[in-house]
Amino acid sequence: MNITTPSKITVRKIPSSRINEVNFNSLQFGSVFSDHMFSCDFKEGRWQDPIIQPFGPLTISPAAKVFHYGQAVFEGMKAYKDDNGGIFLFRPEQNFKRINKSAKRMAIPEFPKELFFDALNEILQLDSEWIKPGIGNSLYIRPFVIATQAGVSASPSTEYKFMILLSPAQAYYTGDVKVVFSEHYSRAADGGVGFAKAAGNYGAQFYPTNLAREKGFQQVIWTDSHSHEFLEEAGTMNIFFRINDTLITAPTSDRILDGVTRKSVLKLAETLNIPTEVRRVKVSEIKEAHKNGTLMEIFGAGTAAVISPISTFGHGEKIFDLPVLEESYATMFKSKLMDIQYNRSEDPFGWRY
Ligand code: COI
Repeated sequence: MNITTPSKITVRKIPSSRINEVNFNSLQFGSVFSDHMFSCDFKEGRWQDPIIQPFGPLTISPAAKVFHYGQAVFEGMKAYKDDNGGIFLFRPEQNFKRINKSAKRMAIPEFPKELFFDALNEILQLDSEWIKPGIGNSLYIRPFVIATQAGVSASPSTEYKFMILLSPAQAYYTGDVKVVFSEHYSRAADGGVGFAKAAGNYGAQFYPTNLAREKGFQQVIWTDSHSHEFLEEAGTMNIFFRINDTLITAPTSDRILDGVTRKSVLKLAETLNIPTEVRRVKVSEIKEAHKNGTLMEIFGAGTAAVISPISTFGHGEKIFDLPVLEESYATMFKSKLMDIQYNRSEDPFGWRY
């Protein structure tokens, strides 16, 4: 049966939920999807036909511009459930702003705010059973936009599809995270699209990341494309360094994603009186700090990865192990963030939605 909500979203429910087929205790990140998906089409100059329907394949022309010119952007968010069944999002307005910032850079029309939030509210209510309570469990939310106009002329599409998928999640990285500082490949360039969550930014990382994997690293820490002397971000997360007690991270720019977890860590650090420096970080500085024993931690921060401590970094042929700390910033920030996300503490910043 089709129902139309006050926000004019047509809802076509799945006849029978797939939830009992899912083992929520061993989820591989991003591999299982909930019962429903949201979509809305951009045609004739406006967004129209918003619909929530059973998750399933799309019919798209093989000539759709997304396949030829990569006009695609996405977001990553999470829904959390507290022990009383309350459902929370974390700073969703940041993701809303960023998907439109990414869209603008890729010549994709912006998506309306009200519809973005109505769609989230509706689909999360419908698939609320897919959000499991308990620290570490979440429902990863993947909004994205693709260019659907058929045609291979190299110009922006006139038609698009905005969608939201939901994927129950646990940890993104399991075990030690080993990273290698890039010496040749780069992720982004000045004037480019590094700041945007453009699909191609991620696809372009796969080949160098595979090379790193062959050498035993999970991730590449991308360096600047000019000199490879400055550390920028990890691609799936922003990166923080702790030298003595000071927390250091690279400034956002054309090349670096303005991560929601990144800015939340910086705000938490400020309120905890932890000295922070937002500045460019040289590879040589980190190696020197490792040598003289002042490099205490490196960790990544991102929605999917939350806070991921780095155990080892590689540069050239050398491997550098990091100390295992009893009281690490990574653990402290992770638990403070999660307490807010899972409604287990006050929310002095108004981040919970
Ligand atoms: C996220 O943290 O949401 C991301 O976008 C990383 C993703 C590539 C898994």
